[in-house]
Amino acid sequence: MPAVVIVGAQWGDEGKGKATDLLGSRVDYVVKFNGGNNAGHTVVIGDEKYALHLLPSGILSPGCVPVIGNGVVVDLAVLFEEIDGLEARGIDTSKLVVSANAHVIADYNRTMDKVAERFLGSRKIGTTGRGIGPTYADKMNRIGIRIQDLFDEKILRQKVEGALELKNQILTKIYNRRAVEVDEVVAELLSYVDRLRPMVADTPLLLHEALAADKTVLLEAGQATLLDVDHGTYPFVTSSSATTGGACTGSGIAPTEISGVIGIVKAYATRVGEGPFPTELFDEDGERLRQNGSEFGTTTGRPRRCGWYDAPIARYAARINGVTDFVLTKLDVLTGWDKIPVCVAYEVDGERVDEMPMTQTGFHHARPIYEFFDGWSEDISSARTLDDLPANARAYVTALESMSGARISAIGVGPDREETIVVHDLL
Ligand code: GDP
Ligand code: IMO
Ligand code: MG
Repeated sequence: MPAVVIVGAQWGDEGKGKATDLLGSRVDYVVKFNGGNNAGHTVVIGDEKYALHLLPSGILSPGCVPVIGNGVVVDLAVLFEEIDGLEARGIDTSKLVVSANAHVIADYNRTMDKVAERFLGSRKIGTTGRGIGPTYADKMNRIGIRIQDLFDEKILRQKVEGALELKNQILTKIYNRRAVEVDEVVAELLSYVDRLRPMVADTPLLLHEALAADKTVLLEAGQATLLDVDHGTYPFVTSSSATTGGACTGSGIAPTEISGVIGIVKAYATRVGEGPFPTELFDEDGERLRQNGSEFGTTTGRPRRCGWYDAPIARYAARINGVTDFVLTKLDVLTGWDKIPVCVAYEVDGERVDEMPMTQTGFHHARPIYEFFDGWSEDISSARTLDDLPANARAYVTALESMSGARISAIGVGPDREETIVVHDLL
C-alpha cells in the first residue's frame, strides 16, 4: 500500500537522487511527477556516477519500475538520449513506463524559453533553457501536445497548428525570429513514435493497481519547495508543482494513499538562477561551501549560490509538504568551520519575523538572524551511526531538528549511497 513522497525542502539540488537511490532496492515503483530535464539528480554507486535528468532515479534499481508521470514535461530527444546512455553503461531501462497524459516539450518551447529570458534582460529568471516554462504555459493554455497525441497523426497536426498560430506571430513580430514550420515539428515528433509506443501506459491506473496489490511506490520530486510555482519565491520559480500536492496531481495517486513525506534538506543552502536567498554568502565562506560541496549545477554546470542553513525555510517546507522525515544531506561539507551560523529568524524592515514572510517584498527584505554553533574538524565520512559523529556535529543535527519542523531520520556524510547515517527507517 504505501506511497511515499520525496521532496526538496530548499531550492533544489538537496540530494533527492541519492535519497531515492538509497530506497530504490526496497520499492516497486519510482515515479517522477513534475518537471522535466531541468532536473539533475546525481547518484553515486561505488566508482560509478550517474546524472539523471528526465528519468526517475529508480531506473538504477534493478527490481524497480520507473514511471514518468502525467505531471512531467517530456523532451523526447532527451528521453532517448538518456535511455541510450544508460543502456550503453549496462543499465536495463526496459521497465520504463511513460504516462499517455504527460506533455511534450516541442522544439518551439525551447526557443520560446531562450528568447523570453533574453527579452527579460535584468528581470530574467535564470531558467535552465530547456523549454520547461513555455511547455507548462501551453498546458495551462490548453494548447499543449501530449504523449498520446503522437499516436494520431491527424490530431497531432491539428494541435501543432493550433499551438503555432499565435506563437509564430510572437516569434516573428516580437522576437524577430523565423516562423516555425508545422511539418518540421510534426515530423520530428513522429520520428519517436515507434520507440515510444511500448512504453506508454495509463499510469494512474497502473499505480492504483500497484498500491491495491500492496506494492510500494516512491514519488520523486524534481526541483523543490521554494521553486514550486505556488509555494516558491514566485516569479523566481520553476513552472510545476514540486511539493507533495504536485505528487498527487502529477501521478494520479490520491492524497489518502500517501503514507509518508521525506523532505530532503542540505546542512546549508544553495540556489541556482535568480531570486531572493536571505542567507547567501558573497565571501570566502560561500566559496568554501561551493568548493567543499562541489556546488556546480548538474544540468547547466552553473556555480550554485551558497549560504547558511535557513530554519524558517525548512519549517515552511515541513508545513507545505507535511514532511514526516527529513534527510539532512552534505553534513560532511561543514567539517572544518570553527563556528557554523544557522538562520533562526529574519529581520524584516526592523522587525523580527520568525516564519517565512507573507509577501515577496518581505522576503526580499529579510535579513537573517543567526545563532552560532560550534564546529568540528574530524572527517565524518565514515560515520554510520549518530554516535560515530563528533559531539559538536551531533549537537548541530539536534539543533536543526528542533527548529525544522520534523525529525531528521537520515544524515548524508558523503555522496556515495553507503555514506549515510540512518536514524529511523524511512519506509
Ligand atoms: P538533487 O537534484 O536533489 O538530486 O541533487 P543533485 O544531485 O543535483 O546535487 C546533490 C549533489 O550532492 C550531488 O553531486 C550528490 O552526489 C551530492 N551529495 C548528495 N548527498 C551528499 C552528502 O551527504 N555529502 C556529499 N558530500 N555530497 C552529497
Ligand atoms: P533538481 O531537481 C535547482 C531553477 C533554475 C531557475 C528556475 C526556473 O536538480 O533539484 P526552469 O528551467 O525550471 O524554468 O528554471 O528553477 N531550477 C533548479 N534549480 N535544481 C533543480 O532541479 C532546478 N530545476 C530548475 O535554475 O532558477
Ligand atoms: Mg539537482
